[in-house]
Amino acid sequence: MARVIASVNQKGGVGKTTITMNLGIGLARAGKKVLMIDFDPQGSLTDCLGFPEPDQMEITVAKVLMNSINDVQTDISYGILTHPEGVDVLPSNIELSGLEVTLVNVMCRELVLKNYLERIKPLYDYILIDCMPSLGILTVNVLAAADSVIIPVKAEKPSIRGLQQLLRTIGKVRKNMNPNLAIEGVVPNMVDCRTNYAKDVVNLLTEAYGGPLKIYESIPQSVRMAETAAEGKSIYLHDAEGKAAKAYESLVKGVLESEKQ
Ligand SMILES: Nc1ncnc2c1ncn2[C@@H]1O[C@H](COP(=O)(O)OP(=O)(O)OP(=O)(O)O)[C@@H](O)[C@H]1O
Ligand SMILES: [Mg+2]
Repeated sequence: MARVIASVNQKGGVGKTTITMNLGIGLARAGKKVLMIDFDPQGSLTDCLGFPEPDQMEITVAKVLMNSINDVQTDISYGILTHPEGVDVLPSNIELSGLEVTLVNVMCRELVLKNYLERIKPLYDYILIDCMPSLGILTVNVLAAADSVIIPVKAEKPSIRGLQQLLRTIGKVRKNMNPNLAIEGVVPNMVDCRTNYAKDVVNLLTEAYGGPLKIYESIPQSVRMAETAAEGKSIYLHDAEGKAAKAYESLVKGVLESEKQ
């Protein structure tokens, strides 16, 4: 049965999508069978993985979940695409916003994604979900379905303050619908290791949260990292020897180790 890990932060542009993509491909390189689900109407993960024109795609996660809500029987792999680097992908586009509106009138609206995942979990070792930057009903669906969350934060003071709100939401989800939801860890991202400011912020993060939460190795700010999105390739292919690829390898190792505990 797959372990479901969500990349979550209500703050935009912190690296949720980049981390989903490179953690997912890293796990696949370690021999795991991985599905990534784009759960953001912006379709950024779909786009970053090199699938052209997400908004022109006919079958996306929105359609797959609508079928699930309406009990339409489809093949288990319906809508799932494959990426050349050995991962499966359930793409997304703007239609997911339509689903968000539809959910208002659906019974057990928080559990729509979870119900779908129960069907496909036996096919994978890991299912990674890329969330949108909000804590609305779509993200609550993800939190209800996930085993754990990974929280990317940008090495800036306001990002650290935003963590408190996210942790409160996770607490509410645990209390009301998913008592076993774990926090995989926090990933400081886009850290400019040359500046004292970035080091101070990472120290602050570790002091404030490092007790209860695992703080992963910082991922450096790197132009090569930003380029991967345009290339549709992981950092392991784009800049295998760079510091960012090494930091990602350490993240992958950490996630694999936490599976054993
Ligand atoms: N380590 C890094 N160094 C430099 N740029 C990075 C790094 N990680 C991510 N980026 C870039 O930062 C931008 C934001 O990253 P990303 O899209 O992953 O964030 P996000 O949290 O998913 O954003 P959104 O909230 O809009 O979904 C992207 O252009 C990405 O290529
Ligand atoms: Mg994103």
